[in-house]
Amino acid sequence: MATPVRRLPGRLTAPDPGWTTTADVVVIGSGIAGLTAALRLREALPPGGVKVLVVTKDVLAAGSTQWAQGGIAAALGPGDTPAQHEVDTLVAGAGACDLDAVRVLVEEGPDAVRELIALGTNFDHSPDGELSLTREGGHHRDRIAHAGGDATGAEIQRALIAAVERAPEIEVIQHALAVDLLLADDGGVAGVTLHVIGEGVRDGVGAVRCRAVVLASGGLGQVFSQTTNPAVSTGDGMALALRAGATLRDLEFVQFHPTVMYLGPDSRGQQPLISEAVRGEGAFLVDGLPEEGGHRFMQGVHELADLAPRDVVAKAIMRRMIETGQPHMWLDARHLGADFWERRFPTILATARSHGVDPVTDLIPVAPACHYASGGVRTDLWGRSDVPGLYATGEAACSGVHGANRLASNSLLEGLVFSRRIAQVLPGELREWAEPATDRRTAGLVPGRLRRDLQETMTAEVGVLRSATGLAGATAVLDKLAGVAAEVVDVESWETTNLLTISTALADAAALREETRGSHWREDFPERDDERFAGHFDVVMSDGETELVFVPSPATDTL
Ligand code: SIN
Repeated sequence: MATPVRRLPGRLTAPDPGWTTTADVVVIGSGIAGLTAALRLREALPPGGVKVLVVTKDVLAAGSTQWAQGGIAAALGPGDTPAQHEVDTLVAGAGACDLDAVRVLVEEGPDAVRELIALGTNFDHSPDGELSLTREGGHHRDRIAHAGGDATGAEIQRALIAAVERAPEIEVIQHALAVDLLLADDGGVAGVTLHVIGEGVRDGVGAVRCRAVVLASGGLGQVFSQTTNPAVSTGDGMALALRAGATLRDLEFVQFHPTVMYLGPDSRGQQPLISEAVRGEGAFLVDGLPEEGGHRFMQGVHELADLAPRDVVAKAIMRRMIETGQPHMWLDARHLGADFWERRFPTILATARSHGVDPVTDLIPVAPACHYASGGVRTDLWGRSDVPGLYATGEAACSGVHGANRLASNSLLEGLVFSRRIAQVLPGELREWAEPATDRRTAGLVPGRLRRDLQETMTAEVGVLRSATGLAGATAVLDKLAGVAAEVVDVESWETTNLLTISTALADAAALREETRGSHWREDFPERDDERFAGHFDVVMSDGETELVFVPSPATDTL
């Protein structure tokens, strides 16, 4: 397989640090993965003298966790078992999961969720007092715990922030973008440079010297024009890790959520999610008003019909959109009734109504949009990356649990489970304080004004439907964008450079994977091809030069 070599910034252009501080461990990110890591590390590290610092790009609650609707999956219900959760996860992952990682996830999941409850998270309960569990796409059991009806992420985020506020030993710096890692002579972590906006003496670019970094910085949704991800999801952590020598894996497996509310052709950025749990409660997809002859097109496509795994539903919607020439399909949930909507899905109801659609009386227009990066920084079962002292968890990581297509509601669980694991090993592996070595990586930066071109190119050619021609066109545009130098050094340029770095690697991996698997859909190679593509594309970078390596591994859904 010929792997193209790309030249991208080896580090981001940035002024010399204007301030310096120290912390033993820096956690980058403040969603479920970051705050769980910080809380568990505080318990695991010896008291006094060992400092944990959480840095986050906006306010603590600005990341993707806050927006999670459906819930968190774990084998908690009567008759359910981790083994059944494992099978559903492996099937959704289309052969590309790491079996050991999936076992860790499903076996440690129930305890991890119980701990979240003990921490103060108020999950919904049924009238008999049992935890209320629902079903989402790809699950053969009711195993999704939820809170506030459809505000699970917000409730988890609230409980975690409250716990961090009760732990004064955890220091927090908000409005802090992680720019690059500082590396020691041995290539391991020596610190991180941050750009902080308006936190007293810590303003502008500064350096935090540290002995370990836990990357929990979330996903890359802003690579595309329409995404369910918030504005902060610009792939910064993945790009920073790649520049520092970490391996990224499975970047081509970007999940497109099937039912994102369609707001019109000109709507950009974060779009409203209509949780799969709505289909879990009985809503179904139609290609027009049933009263006027519209059909339930998921019937006959998959044994689980509207609750098929997410990639199957997204593809069926796209197919029907193409066949009918419509820019979206519809979700029919009118029969759930006003009372049920108000009680079970208050957030979605209010959001839909704010856009002029009343789900109690109207069909909801829906189309797939970017939702989740199944790939990220390659880690082992304990969250370790290839860079000594750098750990990754949550959406920023590729622990191997999602494969080619994440099972619904496994994302919050992954952050929770693997952050607990990092806290188990990290204290025993804390590096000695090391001086940052002279940074010889070539600095570079593209201007922030390129972002829109980048996103439109990625959406048009590297989105739900991919082909060799489209991908070649996309990489040509991305190469051109990489040649434009920024005139000013600012946050927009740092973020856009990170988006470009990740987009380029993602498009290259998508071009090399000449098959259709999970969320990666090649129009020109419509079949899964285990003979050539059972395995992973890893991306590495050395001083700005990227290389893709194929790592074969047996398909895990047929073992
Ligand atoms: C949803 O509620 O449909 C999203 C859940 C998830 O992404 O796992």
